[in-house]
Amino acid sequence: MAVKIAVIGCGAVGSSFLYSAIHQNLAAEYGLIDYNEELAQGQVLDLEDSSLYFDSSPRLKVIKNYQELVSYDFVVITAGRPQKEGETRLEMIRDNAKIIKKIAEDVRDSGFQGIVLICSNPVDVLTYVFQRVSSFKFKRVLGSGTVLDSSRLKVELSKGLGVTPSSISGAFILGEHGDSSLVTFSNIKVAGLTVNRCEDNHYPNSPFCCSDYEEKLEQVVSHKAYEIIKRKRATHYGIGAALAQILKSIIFDKQEVLPVSVLLNGEYGLSQVVLGAPSIVGKYGVEKIVEMKLSQKEMDKLHRSAQILKSNIDSIRE
Ligand code: LAC
Repeated sequence: MAVKIAVIGCGAVGSSFLYSAIHQNLAAEYGLIDYNEELAQGQVLDLEDSSLYFDSSPRLKVIKNYQELVSYDFVVITAGRPQKEGETRLEMIRDNAKIIKKIAEDVRDSGFQGIVLICSNPVDVLTYVFQRVSSFKFKRVLGSGTVLDSSRLKVELSKGLGVTPSSISGAFILGEHGDSSLVTFSNIKVAGLTVNRCEDNHYPNSPFCCSDYEEKLEQVVSHKAYEIIKRKRATHYGIGAALAQILKSIIFDKQEVLPVSVLLNGEYGLSQVVLGAPSIVGKYGVEKIVEMKLSQKEMDKLHRSAQILKSNIDSIRE
């Protein structure tokens, strides 16, 4: 199948996603939309220069009219104003909800039938907004959720435990892609050995045996975006690669478990809220939400995060 991906918002995040997707040969055609058409054109020219070095020669074009989306399989939305230094993601809610509502109307009116992937922040709230405005089924409207945060967690754990990230299991960040997220400490294992409890069956020399490792780890991971923004004004490579990973699971029907932003419907005792929760991602989009066994402390944190997201959704209802 000749896959076609459209990207709405072609700044640093959109172009980093495209760079990653092109070099993994995810699609035969990429259509770029930006309110600044010259920027979209510039990205097409630059990206097409890079594609041959990776044995990839997709068609790259600027989409001038939303009606063209009807022939695309996927729409990736990165549009929105960027996060300022020290600003939380939730503080962008008003400006970016307005932008996403308009995009949702335009995508819906184009007759687009495919899957939508959103990473504009605050991503969990905006995924909810997009779904409400478009009336698309939630299965086919995904947010990038805590996929990137979970990768950041594995990167840090890998340094502490001295094993490659892919050898660590059960390590997820759940909840809001933002300050109220939580780490699934009680589930993290290496080769079946627990890492965070110094009991009989624990991973030897686990750094968790130092008293403040857990707090430090949580802090480093949840503040990583702030640290990046402070130094280079934006984050884009990490999220670009995370978006490509999510789409890859859909395009190749990999059924990978990824903590994308999904609407909960009773899972974890929560409903009517979108947040990052482990989900099986396949050719239909979100195929199933996986309910992890969480400790009471983790469950309480998840409920607190959901409460924060719900009150933010309420704050923008008209
Ligand atoms: C980050 C942005 C995508 O965490 O929110 O890098």
